[in-house]
Amino acid sequence: MIAKPLFIDNLILCDTFKEIQGDFVECGVWRGGMSGATAEVMGKNRTYYLFDSFEGLPAVKEVDGPAAKIWQDNKSSAYYHDNCTAEIGYAEMAMKKSGVTYQLIKGWFSDTLPSFSLTNKIAILRLDGDWYDSTMDCLVNLYPLVAENGLIIIDDYYAWDGCTRAVHDYLSKNDLPVRIYQTKNGVCYIIKTSNGRQL
Ligand SMILES: C[S@@+](CC[C@H](N)C(=O)[O-])C[C@H]1O[C@@H](n2cnc3c(N)ncnc32)[C@H](O)[C@@H]1O
Repeated sequence: MIAKPLFIDNLILCDTFKEIQGDFVECGVWRGGMSGATAEVMGKNRTYYLFDSFEGLPAVKEVDGPAAKIWQDNKSSAYYHDNCTAEIGYAEMAMKKSGVTYQLIKGWFSDTLPSFSLTNKIAILRLDGDWYDSTMDCLVNLYPLVAENGLIIIDDYYAWDGCTRAVHDYLSKNDLPVRIYQTKNGVCYIIKTSNGRQL
């Protein structure tokens, strides 16, 4: 689903941060293409936790903006992908190919994330849930679990109003001075540092 330059930038980012100890979490997996490729780059020395409803995106709300509503209403568009619904078997197949240890966690983020606990910290958190509530659920439940100097990739920051708003609201409500960066081709990311400054 992701454009090739962005796909490559994601992998370069993960390669740059792969020395950070901890697990990988992706929220919004779809067919598992990005997760499988990331696992190839980040290696077998960690666990990959992959969250998705595998039933597509929730209904757009006003906070997600007019473009999101138009996208979800336009069911015949080539970019609709059945509202991003994916049979879980695709992600299973992608992860099996990578040979890493992984868990696919099926369900809505609001149901699956609050009870999620980890022994390790999260080295890389990849958020790809598109909408405001989806992004906010992930940040509320997972940002505290990210390692110091860990990476958070926010796939939809430049794409959808709701995601942008959720990031700003979360950082602001929690008084976090972290910077918002972007790669050469426009992948948004933040680095979790307690003083807000880059490494
Ligand atoms: C754009 S797709 C992810 C694309 C995937 N990361 C890739 O690179 O191929 C968005 C995914 O987020 C999932 N999703 C969005 N909001 C969700 C929520 N609140 N709970 C569970 N899954 C959600 C959808 O089911 C969909 O598979």
